[in-house]
Amino acid sequence: MDKQVAEEQFIRSLRPRSLDECIGQSKVIEGLQISIRASREREEALDHVLLHGPPGLGKTTLANVIAHEMGANIVTTSGPALERGGDLMGILTNLQSKDVLFIDEIHRLSRAIEEFLYPAMEDYCVNFVIEKGAHARTLRYQLPPFTLVGATTRAGLLSSPLRERFGIFHHLDFFSVDELARVAKRSASILVIPITEEGALTIASRARGTPRIANRLLRRVRDYAQVRADGKVTEEVAVEALEFEGVDSRGLDRLDRDLLRTIATVYAGGPVGIDAVAATLNEDAQTLEEVVEPYLLKIGFLTRTPGGRRVTQVACEHLGLVLPEKNHRAQGQLL
Ligand SMILES: Nc1ncnc2c1ncn2[C@@H]1O[C@H](COP(=O)(O)OP(=O)(O)OP(=O)(O)O)[C@@H](O)[C@H]1O
Ligand SMILES: [Mg+2]
Repeated sequence: MDKQVAEEQFIRSLRPRSLDECIGQSKVIEGLQISIRASREREEALDHVLLHGPPGLGKTTLANVIAHEMGANIVTTSGPALERGGDLMGILTNLQSKDVLFIDEIHRLSRAIEEFLYPAMEDYCVNFVIEKGAHARTLRYQLPPFTLVGATTRAGLLSSPLRERFGIFHHLDFFSVDELARVAKRSASILVIPITEEGALTIASRARGTPRIANRLLRRVRDYAQVRADGKVTEEVAVEALEFEGVDSRGLDRLDRDLLRTIATVYAGGPVGIDAVAATLNEDAQTLEEVVEPYLLKIGFLTRTPGGRRVTQVACEHLGLVLPEKNHRAQGQLL
């Protein structure tokens, strides 16, 4: 538990608070700058914002940044935490004008809660039914204008009526190595860790395009540098530390490699369905799909076909495996 609390504090201390402090995501940041400035000038609440993208790229961070830039409070909840209409009702009726209601994992809202949310988003009101049978009446409760910020790793799972009620939609993409090096340097300076340019670049190139991972690797390298070297994060120390952690030159960890190796060897390179791979690895299919696969797809180590997942030639070369004959041909035909 203590470890979890420490991790939480660590994460919070590194989170950018304002748009100016945010690194990368330039299109998203610029878009938000315009929307926020315009609504501030009009003294209106910001339109509802849907943030979509793989884990660790800054959805929670941006929700907090939006509230900060609007000079408003933020109330945070999540799809699975909202079980009954009453839960949401309590939150909505306590909001103040221009406040941000952040719903993480919004694709996991129940249908009943979703329907409750539609009039709240559209007309800033909630309808609730009192009494039953012949005496049933619908009461309409007016809410202050507020901004719903929804975050999801799976925009495809959002129902279309819900999706359509968002005025602003941003997709967060993986960070470049240069951007991640800036993230590592910024975090190192906050945590007072001496780091060289090359040290930051080494961490960045193994962080799977993800600032959260860059921060986590920085912490591992810091420990290693302190115990095995003179405390300074250089390229050499970073490489040693990350190899020690089982993070390879492309940033893949044990699970990434196990997934690729399983498809390559057990399933002859694929195509194979994610449930079969998950069963073989004894892992949760959803975790593989949402956390492990996006980066492997992004770097071209994995492809998704109607028949299932396939490992690619480059992935096999990276792992020192030989791709089974039949897929050589299949991949050739794809070209
Ligand atoms: N634009 C950014 N600049 C610098 N650091 C960032 C940026 N975005 C995110 N980070 C860092 O990455 C970490 C992870 O971000 P965050 O928790 O917002 O991701 P998330 O998208 O909400 O992830 P999840 O889907 O798992 O909830 C943060 O602690 C923050 O330090
Ligand atoms: Mg989050």
